[in-house]
Amino acid sequence: MSASDEEHMAQALALARRGLGLTWPSPSVGSIVVAPSGEIVSRGWTASGGRPHAEAIALDRARARARGATLYVTLEPCAHEGGRGLACADVIAAAQPARAVVALRDPDPRTSGQGLERLAAAGIEVVEGVLAAEAASVALGHLLRVTEERPAVTLKLALGADGLMPRGDGAPVWITGPEARAHGHLLRARNDAILVGRGTILADNPSLTCRLPGMGCRSPVRVVLDRRLRTPPEAHLFDDMMVPVWLICAADEDHPNAEALQERCAEIVPAAVDAHGMLGIRDALETLASRGITRVLVEGGPSVARAFLDADLIDEAVIYQGPNPAGADGLMPFVNEGLDRLTGSGHFTQIHARSFGPDRMTWWRRMRTCSPALSAA
Ligand SMILES: NC(=O)c1ccc[n+]([C@@H]2O[C@H](COP(=O)([O-])OP(=O)(O)OC[C@H]3O[C@@H](n4cnc5c(N)ncnc54)[C@H](OP(=O)(O)O)[C@@H]3O)[C@@H](O)[C@H]2O)c1
Repeated sequence: MSASDEEHMAQALALARRGLGLTWPSPSVGSIVVAPSGEIVSRGWTASGGRPHAEAIALDRARARARGATLYVTLEPCAHEGGRGLACADVIAAAQPARAVVALRDPDPRTSGQGLERLAAAGIEVVEGVLAAEAASVALGHLLRVTEERPAVTLKLALGADGLMPRGDGAPVWITGPEARAHGHLLRARNDAILVGRGTILADNPSLTCRLPGMGCRSPVRVVLDRRLRTPPEAHLFDDMMVPVWLICAADEDHPNAEALQERCAEIVPAAVDAHGMLGIRDALETLASRGITRVLVEGGPSVARAFLDADLIDEAVIYQGPNPAGADGLMPFVNEGLDRLTGSGHFTQIHARSFGPDRMTWWRRMRTCSPALSAA
């Protein structure tokens, strides 16, 4: 591994980040081809919908110049054909680069280690593990979907200076300024799905789309936890029928409103309820993963935020805090507990902080000890 390997892998990771939110059910991967002179010959990142894969795009653009070059790729090339053309490991073997630098092994059993073996068998020098931690963080949704059968979860909270959430009054109440809100919309674009509880729909009547200029097409699937399907069919959520709405409801219950909601293009998604009759968070996430979702942004109110925290199913938390208090009718972010329940738990570490005008954003990541595939994340 050399400094230039790290620099080139950092560029490949920047390409991978471009596809976040667009490639599910596949991971977003970045790849570059670098000539022996150090010149970057070509770049590729996973196409929308997950195919073609990044390294296939980069090699196709490099054509004959791939021979003898170094290929950088942020995730192990796939070893399975999947009925849609050659496996990437075979595409690389045919292109004959001298070296392949791979950030992270793919835990998907159809590939795990076999992609690297196939490259080595083709006489390509394989270097593994360059910027593995960064790569694991970019691929976290895919890694968790494969190893834990659930998507990666980011909790987003917007709080006043007093640490309370403003209470909706039929429309969202903004506690932060336009720059922080624009950043929140970028978060939406980088996730496959955005999830709230029915309480947020009733209180705020939000659209839950990405409304950054030119990025409307980056709106994620909108998911509502709604046990008995009591979301009003006239909610704003249904106004933009181009962006899917999935209503997760209790399986094994009658849902008299289902038809009216389906007429508004909602997709009804039954899931299991827990011992208290609530939708189980773990089951809801497994249901989303089974439908291909790899990254979920939770933007719900205190009940849903608390349920995710209690289930220990928050991987990252992005907290925006405005300069003014939410006031006397503000809500504790975790029902009857404050932000400290997450930030002071010792389970999360702050990885990033920045200001947007008078607003402050802090970004927290769960310190994970679980599966070895994630130890770098
Ligand atoms: N500042 C912010 O960041 C922010 C963001 C969102 C909302 N809010 C505010 O939060 C308030 C709404 O709070 P809320 O707690 O009612 O909203 P919520 O957490 O989005 O929705 C709660 C509802 O979700 C449903 N749900 C289904 N399964 C659940 C589960 N396992 N755990 C918890 N809930 C589940 C329940 O309704 P069913 O029983 O009908 O299924 C529950 O009443 C509003 O005033 C809104 O303005 C603030």
